[in-house]
Amino acid sequence: MTAAPRTTAAQAAPVRAFPASRGSMRMTSPGEPGGGGSGSEVRPALQDTTVARSARVHDWLLGGVENYAPDRAAGAALVEVVPGARQLAHSGRAFLRRAVGLLAGEAGIGQFLDLGCGLPVLDGNVHEVSQAACPGTRVVYVDVDPVVLAHAFTTLDDNADTLIVGGDIRHPGAIREAIGGFFDWDRPVAVLMANVLDCLPADGADDPDGPAGVVRDWAAVLPSGSPVVIQQMVCADAGVRETVTAVMTGATGGRWGRMATPGDLGRYAAPLHIGPPGLGDVTRWRPDSPAAPGPLCPSGAAAWGVVGRAPGAGSPPGTVGDGGLRSGRGP
Ligand SMILES: C[S@@+](CC[C@H](N)C(=O)[O-])C[C@H]1O[C@@H](n2cnc3c(N)ncnc32)[C@H](O)[C@@H]1O
Repeated sequence: MTAAPRTTAAQAAPVRAFPASRGSMRMTSPGEPGGGGSGSEVRPALQDTTVARSARVHDWLLGGVENYAPDRAAGAALVEVVPGARQLAHSGRAFLRRAVGLLAGEAGIGQFLDLGCGLPVLDGNVHEVSQAACPGTRVVYVDVDPVVLAHAFTTLDDNADTLIVGGDIRHPGAIREAIGGFFDWDRPVAVLMANVLDCLPADGADDPDGPAGVVRDWAAVLPSGSPVVIQQMVCADAGVRETVTAVMTGATGGRWGRMATPGDLGRYAAPLHIGPPGLGDVTRWRPDSPAAPGPLCPSGAAAWGVVGRAPGAGSPPGTVGDGGLRSGRGP
């Protein structure tokens, strides 16, 4: 399938790819802050710790230690408005682990693309979960934050089946080009968009750089039948959404988008084939235990998610009966 990247002012933004195994790093474009031609040039020391970064706030929500005072302050302010925010973050990761494990094991998807991957987590990164389900699964981590790239490189030191790409997810064509032959583009690629679409500043329904436009563009460049996993916190209460958006945008110096409604998420997922259980609270998607309850959050916020399939060129979106799982590894 031919990639169809949009032409925007930011199209020229550098995109770099770093195979995680030491000694084989490569880059597609030099000069981006925090980047360079070798792993040693991507340093956590470059990070600005005076403003919150979404990756580090998320790390704090998950109980990690890669965060600083502004990140913790932003996280605490978020918890003020959404008292269950930490539980929702954990539920989101648990959903991601289930989806990745089932896609790699049950559905035989051998390639994963984690867009806006964030900092490494303690309880199951995408390469760990997918490669445990099926050794040899290839994973590409993409993020725009040099600090995240540096941590990814450190974590993935000797994993030859993992690639790190520095780039903006609003440019699928450039990212696909950077990945190149690391993926077999004739086979499905599972794309993960967890807690990243709410980081995109643009939010107009028709804005190509907004979440809906970005999902649509990714669906267009993916091999037909590629699973697409979307997950983020949503809330139907406008007051809660406005406060969360103000807290996160202010704390990150404008590097954040907005909190979405459940309806927004449905709009983002519109280009995909959606199977049961459809879009909804992540605790209901293939729970480990039938009794697993959704988190109780007095603010009305919830972690929502969906596993769909990219229809491929010329195929309209619709409903399929496989719950987003169907064999994709091939012979
Ligand atoms: C809240 S973290 C999510 C981490 C992980 N996906 C998860 O759900 O556990 C959001 C990540 O998206 C990254 N991000 C935000 N906007 C991005 C963009 N336009 N392109 C690439 N990465 C982006 C941030 O740098 C951050 O690491």
